[in-house]
Amino acid sequence: MSHSGTPAPATARKSENLKGTVRIPGDKSISHRSFMFGGLAAGETRITGLLEGEDVINTGKAMSAMGAKIEKQGDTWIIQGTGNGALLAPQAPLDFGNAGTGCRLTMGLVGVYDFDATFIGDASLSSRPMGRVLNPLREMGVQVTGSNGDRLPVTLHGPKTPNPITYRVPMASAQVKSAVLLAGLNTPGITTVIEPVMTRDHTEKMLQGFGANLTVDTDADGVRTIRLEGRGKLTGQVIDVPGDPSSTAFPLVAALLVPDSDITIINVLMNPTRTGLILTLREMGANIEVLNARSAGGEDVADLRVRHSDLKGVSVPAERAPSMIDEYPVLSVAASFAEGRTTMTGLEELRVKESDRLAAVARGLELNGVECEEGETSLVVHGVPGGRGLGNAQGAAVTTHLDHRIAMSFLVMGLASEHPVTIDDARMITTSFPEFMDLMKGLGAKIGS
Ligand code: S3P
Repeated sequence: MSHSGTPAPATARKSENLKGTVRIPGDKSISHRSFMFGGLAAGETRITGLLEGEDVINTGKAMSAMGAKIEKQGDTWIIQGTGNGALLAPQAPLDFGNAGTGCRLTMGLVGVYDFDATFIGDASLSSRPMGRVLNPLREMGVQVTGSNGDRLPVTLHGPKTPNPITYRVPMASAQVKSAVLLAGLNTPGITTVIEPVMTRDHTEKMLQGFGANLTVDTDADGVRTIRLEGRGKLTGQVIDVPGDPSSTAFPLVAALLVPDSDITIINVLMNPTRTGLILTLREMGANIEVLNARSAGGEDVADLRVRHSDLKGVSVPAERAPSMIDEYPVLSVAASFAEGRTTMTGLEELRVKESDRLAAVARGLELNGVECEEGETSLVVHGVPGGRGLGNAQGAAVTTHLDHRIAMSFLVMGLASEHPVTIDDARMITTSFPEFMDLMKGLGAKIGS
């Protein structure tokens, strides 16, 4: 879905104390994969807790266009899948809106089929690099046409018999790893992905859960070799999607920054490939209590109690980036209120997210009185404990570049800054966290238009 029409600016103001217990909507990565694998597997998949953000809904529409039957009964999404290898040719371009995950994973999933599939998206997605997925697909025999320098729109046409490859992922990207593995599902023989730096492992875990013959070997240096046997049977599953740690990050950081806050966030996914932000914030002095740690559906889940904390600046190791890649914008906001400076390195992937997040964060911080230094792959933020002088008294708006996480991060900033913080457009928030405004206001956040 594209967001043509009028932008909707929003302003966040200094708030008193955030209180309450909230449940965060389902994890975006797991929700996309639930629709994809449920749509592909034979028989019925039942999903509860699915994130009903625009990004995930677009993935559901794409799976329907390729033959899956998807309906919602009460709180449960029920999918009748096509069976592995039996997707149908989509009759119209598949529109992924703002979603890199939906688009790139589906390119792998259907790109190896011997028919045309065309991929389109909004202005943000159309400016993002697709070569990282198209190149391994080309090696598997996929014809790529219509692409403008490996940008959308793109049409893929698979060969009669795709070629199983061994692919070493050149950047830390779960989307690239996953696209190659999903292409391997409809490829005879063993598709091998070598992952030098571990990224989120939802594809591996969930494919095993759906019955794929997939193994993972990790060597002494942490290099992972993932082998998938193609053309096996996948069988529908029952999935309860845990709360998204990347969405959790916004109320969590807000509670740390707003004096006298004490909130509890329940049912949060604690998969170790996703918890880098919690580790970092704790190193900064954050009071985050992990309660009721448990295992649900093969994933670690917990409740988090978060209280206002005085933070201090730290150096965030570059190796931690994959486990908190979507959290740097809101970490930068936390760092803006910490004593001393916070140094973040290894941020090259931030340049190719929904926006160039490194630049977007740096410009937004500067506009709101924070001193920072933007390097090619790094960011240094000089914090102002208490938020004195932060915000923009003139009401100048942060440019969000169609990026939901830039929008939410700067609204969090406004809750603890002396002056209000305004963003130019809040509409993209619905791509990943449609409940954000109501949930934050329910905790006591002062956010308005
Ligand atoms: C995702 C992988 C990450 C992340 C994105 C979701 C996934 O992207 O930023 O929000 O679900 O596989 P990259 O693979 O580009 O790092």
